[in-house]
Amino acid sequence: MFSIDTLTRFQALETPFYFYDLGLLSQTLKACKTAADKYGFHVHYAMKANFDPKVLETIQSFGLGADCVSGNEVKAAIATGFRKEQVVFAGVGKSDKEINLALDADIFSFNVESIQELTIINDLAKAKDKTARVAIRINPNVDAHTHHFITTGLDENKFGINSWQLSEVAETLRSCSNIQFIGIHFHIGSQITDLTVYKSLCIRINEMQTWFEDHGFPVKVLNAGGGLGVDYHHPDQDPIPDFEGYFKVFKDFLNVIPGQEVHFELGRALVAQSASLISRVLYVKYGQKKNFLVLDAGMTELIRPMLYQAYMKIENISRNAQDSGLKTQDSRLKYDVVGPICESTDCFQKDVTLQESFRGDLIAVRTAGAYGQVMASRYNLRDAVGSVYSE
Ligand code: LLP
Repeated sequence: MFSIDTLTRFQALETPFYFYDLGLLSQTLKACKTAADKYGFHVHYAMKANFDPKVLETIQSFGLGADCVSGNEVKAAIATGFRKEQVVFAGVGKSDKEINLALDADIFSFNVESIQELTIINDLAKAKDKTARVAIRINPNVDAHTHHFITTGLDENKFGINSWQLSEVAETLRSCSNIQFIGIHFHIGSQITDLTVYKSLCIRINEMQTWFEDHGFPVKVLNAGGGLGVDYHHPDQDPIPDFEGYFKVFKDFLNVIPGQEVHFELGRALVAQSASLISRVLYVKYGQKKNFLVLDAGMTELIRPMLYQAYMKIENISRNAQDSGLKTQDSRLKYDVVGPICESTDCFQKDVTLQESFRGDLIAVRTAGAYGQVMASRYNLRDAVGSVYSE
């Protein structure tokens, strides 16, 4: 829902752009922090979801850590002010350059995704006469019940180390003089809305930590990853995810040893609802079978609908505006809402029912704060899409 003032502001701006509601972002962060603090849990923000500088500053100001998946993310986290003791670095393909950068930055931990990576980090740390803290990312083979494109914790996925390789992990850890084992890490997928999935994850984490403890490796950190989903269908009615319910599952089902730290890596749940992609209708094409709304934004600005068949709510905010003087009529029509890119997959959604729409109307694609702007491209040599912030 946008205020009349906000709409008036949008009308003067060039589209497309991402609009960030920093007030909602802060409310979301507060809700998450309060729910996590209740149990002494630590939350790292998964920077891959959104690395807009103002978004990062806001998140950092709430005292969260940073979960990075590239050397550049590690650099950006530290430049934003995230403390190095709160930076973790995951990713199935960390380059030597990135590992060296993270060693120099003395980050809290590498989340290690293969046995070979463990030996490479050890070699690079040895060359610098340093010790690298590592958590072993284990692929727990737990089904996240989400879209298969964003499932990461099954045997068929490339992520993490499979449980049948643990003996080899233990042997390698023993032979690595410049590695300090601190714990175990998991991440089973994204946009998870069925919280019982996390109960299954807890059971696997408990089994895995027993294994490590039994083999002489004290587990100081249990990192359960992220994945908590958001309500793409009701951004106004349900803007803040159920952080309390989420953390309570871990409180209830995780066997936490006294003195142990429990870590999480949330991305989407923290930022998704706080942004919308704002674009304008360029053309309305009326056909015999279909009507098309051609927007000035497409898959280059927001690729989630095209890449994952993701539903994201589309609104004609010019026609929805009550009392704005813009509302001309009440007739509703069905449209395929498409972008300007030369690809037939460049369609945000088919058969969307909207108020009758006209050239120049402002269209919002809601819940676009996570994996939106960060996944934008310059395909077709388009302008890079910018940010506008609530005041
Ligand atoms: N930790 C690790 C190791 C991850 O790989 C991810 C996300 C997260 C944490 C944060 O997950 P979240 O809380 O945001 O679900 N581009 C896709 C989502 C890809 C998620 C990748 N990994 C999308 O637009 O749906």
